[in-house]
This record gives sequence, structure tokens and C-alpha cells, in this order.
Amino acid sequence: MAAEILKLTGAAVAPGVTTDELDAIAHAAYIDRNAYPSDLGYNGFRKSICTSVNGVICHGIPDSRALEPGDIINIDVTAYIDGMHGDTSATFAVGTIDEPTRALVEATRAATLAGIAAVRPGESMQRIGRAVEEVAHAHGFSVVREYGGHGIGATFHAEPHVYHHVERTDGATALPNMSFTVEPMLLSGGPAFTQADDGWTEHTDDAMPSAQFEHTVVVTGDGAEILTVTADGTSAVDSAA
Ligand code: MF3
Ligand code: CO
Ligand code: CO
Repeated sequence: MAAEILKLTGAAVAPGVTTDELDAIAHAAYIDRNAYPSDLGYNGFRKSICTSVNGVICHGIPDSRALEPGDIINIDVTAYIDGMHGDTSATFAVGTIDEPTRALVEATRAATLAGIAAVRPGESMQRIGRAVEEVAHAHGFSVVREYGGHGIGATFHAEPHVYHHVERTDGATALPNMSFTVEPMLLSGGPAFTQADDGWTEHTDDAMPSAQFEHTVVVTGDGAEILTVTADGTSAVDSAA
């Protein structure tokens, strides 16, 4: 359901559309499915999705700003139904985006999928960060270190913390049936970022763009299965911006 809501909300991305309008579309889609928007009321968050535009790394709050051609926007959906949370996000292009920004978005998509593909039962969770960094660095981008993925299920944010960089102090092992998110944020500019006065929005200090994709996965007998796909097995994470 989270994957459905992400696709449907992403399909509405266009120049002139406000992030509040995207929030309303997503909110109706959760309610249509008898799902609860996990973000709404979470630590005081007042909207049903996060919308992170251009230099916003994560946790952007939908507002009355209209999208402009050349923007990129990450839409992050978390749906709660039957006692379980599903968390997924994708970065969408608004109209035509410039080549360096397109490269950032595509590297972030590839890094996310590489991190997921690196999961092996019985092996270190450090494999994820290694795979993410390998893709990011090969394309000349850096990985945000201050935010990670997270265990998820009956609780929105649970253990383990999932590092998107190689963290040598991380002793966690991937074990069958563990469920967690992989959600790297890649940067084209410098690593410095600041939280806005709203207490949520994390934006790069140099206003250079940041991209993110996210899936919820479960560890299987030989790797990880992506849970945040629609009935046909696809996701907004798959499709090129
Ligand atoms: N969905 C985000 C994550 O990937 C968390 C959003 S919490 C909110 O973990 F309060 F900002 F909505
Ligand atoms: Co998440
Ligand atoms: Co999320």
C-alpha cells in the first residue's frame, strides 16, 4: 500500500503543483485504503508525507510552494495498516532537470538498490553501507552519515540503525525475517546541513541538491526481499526520473 500511495502521489508531480496538494492526494490515498499515515502526529509532524525539494535532504514539510521545472522532489510515504508500518520514498523530477542533478538522482537510485542487494543472512550489516558508498563515490557523490535506515514493523523506527556508510563500530548481523529500511541520501555538494526553525526540514548549507530513495525490506534465506512494491512487483523507486 505504501508503494501504491507513493506511485499515485508521484504521478501528480508537475510544475505548478504545491507540496500541500501532494500531501492532500497522499492523505486521501491512505484513507481510501484504510491505512493511517504514520507521519501524521509523529513527534508533532503535521502532514501525511514528507516532501523534500532540491537542497532539502529529508523531512521537508508540505507547504504552499509550487513546484518549478528543474526541481527534484523526494516524496516519503509511510503507511500503517493491520499493525505494521511500510516506509518507502522516491525522488521525482519536475519537468526537465539539468544533467548533474539527473546524475545525482540516478546514482542515488542505484546506490539504494545496491545496498539492498548486498544484504546476506548471517553476514554483517556493514555490507549495505559498503555497497551504497561504492556506487555513490564512483559517481562523485557523498553519502549523508547523520541519518540512517531503521528497523521497522509494528514500530515505525526500531533497531537496528542501518548505516549507509561503512561504520566499523556496527556489529549488527542481518538475520532471516529482520525487516528494516534502506534509504540513503546522496549529496552533490558539501556535507554541511542545517535544520530549519520548523524543527524538521534538513537543508544543505550550500543549497546543492540532495536525493533519496527508500524501500522496506525483509531478510530472507539468501538475501533481502523488497516489501514496498505494488501487486505487479514494481515501484516508483524503479522508474527513471
Ligand atoms: N519516513 C521517514 C523515514 O524514512 C520518517 C518521517 S517522520 C516524519 O524514516 F515525522 F518526518 F514524518
Ligand atoms: Co524510513
Ligand atoms: Co521514509
